[in-house]
Amino acid sequence: MSEIETILSGVGSYLPERVLTNAELAKTVDTSDEWIRSRSGIGQRHLAADGQATSDLAREAAWSALNDAGLKPADIGLIIVATVTPDKTFPSTAVYVQEKLGCPPGVAFDVSAACAGFIYAMNIATNFISTGQIKHALVIGAEKLSCFLDWTDRSTCVLFGDGAGAVVLSGEKPAVARRPRGVLATYLAADGRLAPHLYADGGPSTTGTVGLVKMNGKEVFRNAVEEIAGAVFEVTERAKVSRHEIDWFVPHQANIRIIQSCAKKLELADEKIIVTIDKHANTSSASIPLALDVGIRDGRIKRGQLLVFAALGGGLAWGSALVRF
Ligand code: UT7
Repeated sequence: MSEIETILSGVGSYLPERVLTNAELAKTVDTSDEWIRSRSGIGQRHLAADGQATSDLAREAAWSALNDAGLKPADIGLIIVATVTPDKTFPSTAVYVQEKLGCPPGVAFDVSAACAGFIYAMNIATNFISTGQIKHALVIGAEKLSCFLDWTDRSTCVLFGDGAGAVVLSGEKPAVARRPRGVLATYLAADGRLAPHLYADGGPSTTGTVGLVKMNGKEVFRNAVEEIAGAVFEVTERAKVSRHEIDWFVPHQANIRIIQSCAKKLELADEKIIVTIDKHANTSSASIPLALDVGIRDGRIKRGQLLVFAALGGGLAWGSALVRF
């Protein structure tokens, strides 16, 4: 066990004001509220304003996580932003967040692992903290997915939304006679052979454009159920805890049917799952910290409980994290 525990000292999130309902969407694309709800569980999504960049969404979420932790921007030594919709091709969105928060010079970079990005970023930040290199880190999932959706393609545009979620991770010496807390284990994986199932058809070194989201929904669905459930088995094994001890499953919010199928494989009751897809839609790397913040703010998730996060997305890339909150 590490000499230093990586605890979740603060959590925050931000959703842009504009809400687009399924009914509104059905006026511009050949779909219906009934189809979207029954196939995905989505009822509405939030959309960023024209002038709002991903770093603006990230800054708001990070600010509330900092307040929740009782910390100041000057306390932060590392900022990682997980995103597939950076403000610019370079520099990283993380440096804009650093500047917008008024953080002093420190480590700041982005992680590109699509919907699994927040889990990847948590793993990296945990390594910085548990090895004593950093005391406090901001780990942010932030996306303005609306900027690269094909709004004429009903098979993708109805599924996604904009938003941001953030956690402050802090290093602490473990107290004697207390069970370990914070990040207990993480698991990461990716398989590039599956990249054609979910990708953006553009990029700086290929088309010179941003591209639009393309997805083979059925293949992604099948892999998501298999790998998300497998990733939860993997972290519980790594941390040597029984999955029956899990208090809350906080999964990536891509499809309610994926979430329920995973929960069934894991023998987790519906009452142990945080579901936000109806209100947020799929916000990629932002979906887990957004759901975490909802569960904490409404009083369901409490200090000391055992949480498991798990996600799969473009890459395909997937992963999980087991946390004693
Ligand atoms: O976060 C990244 C990870 N992403 C995911 O995990 C998403 C995984 N995939 C899914 O969630 C589901 O596959 C979808 C929600 C995307 C689609 O659900 P599905 O049950 O797999 O539907 P489908 O793609 O097989 O489409 C069924 C029918 C088709 O019509 P036909 O060929 O049966 O006549 C589609 O053309 O539904 C049609 N369809 C729609 N109809 C109304 C597809 N999109 C829509 C739509 N509105 N928006």
